[in-house]
Amino acid sequence: MKTPRTIIVGITGGIAAYKAVNIVRAFVLNGDSVHVIATPAALRFVGKPTLEAISRNPVHTDLYEGVAEVRHVAIGQGADLIVVAPATANSIAKIAAGLADDLLGNTILASTAPLVIAPAMHTEMWNNPATVANVAVLRSRGITIVGPGVGRLTGTDSGAGRMEEPETIVAVALAVLDRVASAGEQSREAVASAGQDLTGRRVLISAGGTREPLDPVRFLGNRSSGKQGVALVQAALARGASVTLIAANLEVAVPTSVTTILVSSAVEMHEAMTLAADSAEVVIMAAAVADYRPKTVQLGKIKKADAGDTLTLELVKNPDILAGLAASRKPGQLIIGFAAETETDADRLLALGRDKISRKGCDFLVVNRVGHTSGATEGFGTERNTVTVLDRHGVIVNEASGSKMSVANCILDLIR
Ligand code: CTP
Repeated sequence: MKTPRTIIVGITGGIAAYKAVNIVRAFVLNGDSVHVIATPAALRFVGKPTLEAISRNPVHTDLYEGVAEVRHVAIGQGADLIVVAPATANSIAKIAAGLADDLLGNTILASTAPLVIAPAMHTEMWNNPATVANVAVLRSRGITIVGPGVGRLTGTDSGAGRMEEPETIVAVALAVLDRVASAGEQSREAVASAGQDLTGRRVLISAGGTREPLDPVRFLGNRSSGKQGVALVQAALARGASVTLIAANLEVAVPTSVTTILVSSAVEMHEAMTLAADSAEVVIMAAAVADYRPKTVQLGKIKKADAGDTLTLELVKNPDILAGLAASRKPGQLIIGFAAETETDADRLLALGRDKISRKGCDFLVVNRVGHTSGATEGFGTERNTVTVLDRHGVIVNEASGSKMSVANCILDLIR
């Protein structure tokens, strides 16, 4: 059983405070011990009893409660991670300036734990030079900023400033914890040096599985859920990268704070990847792309009465996106592919991987076993993955087994 970590969720006074309940819940379900510090303004948006019931701990607000136990310092000192969600423009300004006029400010100042901040505010406030400068200060200190996304805001307007989805905030926060743990240190400084190593790097990731239409209601598809690709997106975000996601039929939530292009078929993905690769420093093809598509797409539903007892489909080859991107790569661009194989023998699996990388021409190939046999699933749709990473000479450069997030971090370690 894993040792529970202590996570502080700081909630400040924005309408998105109601969504912080889901963040608290996700950490609790993950087996972590959660302590909520809510500002008085936050409690105007979400009730203390709700937060106490969900976190299973008392919720603290007042700087002058628990003075005998020096609470304003003790909570921060015992934390493994602090997440502030939502973080208003005001609270971001206070954190950047090092102000400690409330319990949350004191806790952050008194802690060396990594800090993850999920801003939420109106577009004008997010774009205001004061906020821009404050966020830059936080980033320069190794603080992870998740979001905000672009979308519907509190009123009828929409734009940048919407708090990133709770699922993504939690995944990014756990990725930060993961990184700090693997760096062997438990400090915000460790995250600053090791955790934010992809700051400003432009990473293009494809995820999910393509669907090849047969008629208006049917398609040929595959079992990819997109979980590994989205874990790569979340891990890259946590490490400061600027991410573009080309998403094909994901079964998991798409982060709202990355540029996302939704596609469905291999041909659509080919077009989107080719375009986006122009400005990417790193390309990761995590999507499961159909090798073939129906030669013709019927305009109306294929009817049994017309097809009879057997139906033969004629398929034509799809473009090999990865091979194409590798062949036309920009100078210095790093290209990483995946190999989905059902081979069970370890040596033969590696041989297939070596053959594949020599055909694809990419820099690294992440070889993973996939399959779906009598109730046991590997790779596709699962929470965990086991991979072997080969370089262009077929040499094993890394092996990883664990959560898709830890595998994602191992893949991102290939970026220099
Ligand atoms: N890929 C691609 N375009 C295709 C097929 C695959 O870009 N038309 C990419 C995948 O995203 C992955 C890599 O190529 O990064 C390997 O995919 P995989 O399905 O393992 O191999 P295939 O090339 O399809 O070869 P095979 O099915 O014969 O194993």
